[in-house]
Amino acid sequence: MERTLILFKPDALQRGLAGRILTRFEEKGLKIAGMKLMQITPELAAKHYEAHKERPFYPGLVRFMTSSPVVALALEGIGAIAMCRKLMGATFGCDAEPGTIRGDFGVSRSFNLIHGSDSPEAAEKELGLFFPEGLVEYEAAAYEWAYDPVEELGREV
Ligand code: RTP
Ligand code: MG
Repeated sequence: MERTLILFKPDALQRGLAGRILTRFEEKGLKIAGMKLMQITPELAAKHYEAHKERPFYPGLVRFMTSSPVVALALEGIGAIAMCRKLMGATFGCDAEPGTIRGDFGVSRSFNLIHGSDSPEAAEKELGLFFPEGLVEYEAAAYEWAYDPVEELGREV
């Protein structure tokens, strides 16, 4: 199983889209391993977007991400990182395919509703930043029916 950090950005909450976006992930078969509403501090935003600190859009990105609360989610599933990125769609809403979260709910380049870790290394770093207290361990009943029990879960039906 793989884990990834998802953020519902300030525009998603302010536009009342948090529930509908969460539903996309739940319907797909991803397990919620952590979830909280939080205000990102400038320090946390700087650590999270460290890779972009020399980019021209960086100051505006930090202002946006700290302008209003976000929902931080830890999602778990087989191939969760790539699967979540596919569900999110291309970075800018205006380019994102219909059927994706960014493609269906937005048109903006910088207000793009959602963040998702883009690699196992990024996921580990970002989950540590947003969930320093750790995640919640439990059995997800839906796994039995969402994944191939033999090939993916390693057990018989
Ligand atoms: P994210 O990190 O937020 O999940 O988004 P991403 O991987 O799809 O895109 P990334 O290249 O990592 O960019 C991070 C965020 O910076 C903002 N951005 N604005 N105005 C611009 O040219 C520009 N480019 C990037 C977006 O909010 C993007 O999500
Ligand atoms: Mg990124």
